[in-house]
Amino acid sequence: MRHLLSTRELSREQAIELLDIAEDMAAVQEREVKKLPTLRGKTVVNLFFEDSTRTRISFEAAAKRLSADVINFSAKGSSVSKGESLKDTAQTLQAMGADGVVIRHHASGAPYTLATSGWIDAGVVNAGDGTHEHPTQALLDAFTMRRRLHGAASRGRALDGVHVVIVGDVLHSRVARSNVWLLATLGAEVELVAPPTLVPVDTTTWPARVGYDLDAALSGTPDVVMMLRIQAERMHAAFFPNSREYARTWGLDDARFDALPPSTMVMHPGPMNRGLEIAARAADSPQSTVREQVANGVSVRMAALYLLMSGERGDA
Ligand code: CP
Repeated sequence: MRHLLSTRELSREQAIELLDIAEDMAAVQEREVKKLPTLRGKTVVNLFFEDSTRTRISFEAAAKRLSADVINFSAKGSSVSKGESLKDTAQTLQAMGADGVVIRHHASGAPYTLATSGWIDAGVVNAGDGTHEHPTQALLDAFTMRRRLHGAASRGRALDGVHVVIVGDVLHSRVARSNVWLLATLGAEVELVAPPTLVPVDTTTWPARVGYDLDAALSGTPDVVMMLRIQAERMHAAFFPNSREYARTWGLDDARFDALPPSTMVMHPGPMNRGLEIAARAADSPQSTVREQVANGVSVRMAALYLLMSGERGDA
């Protein structure tokens, strides 16, 4: 694997391989010494043009646990504020010897541009680009589902027949897009539920059903309910009347949570707007995988960096 830019381009075999390597990495996390020498002598640059807590920290932890040197770059406080372009920023980092670049950018397609422009030689990992994709989030979500469903027998398995309901701000969500493609590739049945104003104009090519009634979707007893964050920072219009109305109609509130079977997994990529898309009782319940998702993110990102940066990289 040369770059990891989207889940749409991953084959079922590639996705399962990555999840299986993440299982090996998770086993390393349970040891007293959590480090592997795999990327000793390599340099990973974390290039963040947008805010992040989970993704930035877990890529840093993943690279360090593989013994890579890590350079953290945040656009805030850098020469980007003086007008420096993505190309010049990337080439500056290349001159410092980057072997892998992890990029989060507000522009959809920025990681693709970096990977295909010839500006840099490094492998590129998309850590979230605009409203396009967030592939490692979807991979850690799939990893979390697989582990909860199959436990120690997860290795080599997909998610065939698993019913996943993804709820909320689909329009602005790169997490939803990456999950739709990956979950479908892994054989899951994906249902999107959102206010009509927060569904993209054309989803006819997406391998997912689209609905507008959360209670109807939950009555189908899904295996997984994934709540999406309301992305107020990307909203430049009124997409719903007010927060109380959104929570009442589209939120996983106490009543909806209490009606779910105890086996239903409750997922959220974080950061959560508690009381808006998800109530505290649901977020903090044993059914919630929120903290597991964060922990699994390190293992999945170790697997991604390992595949991109260890040994000879192929052309795929
Ligand atoms: N889930 C996610 O991408 O979180 P951060 O924005 O904190 O990285």
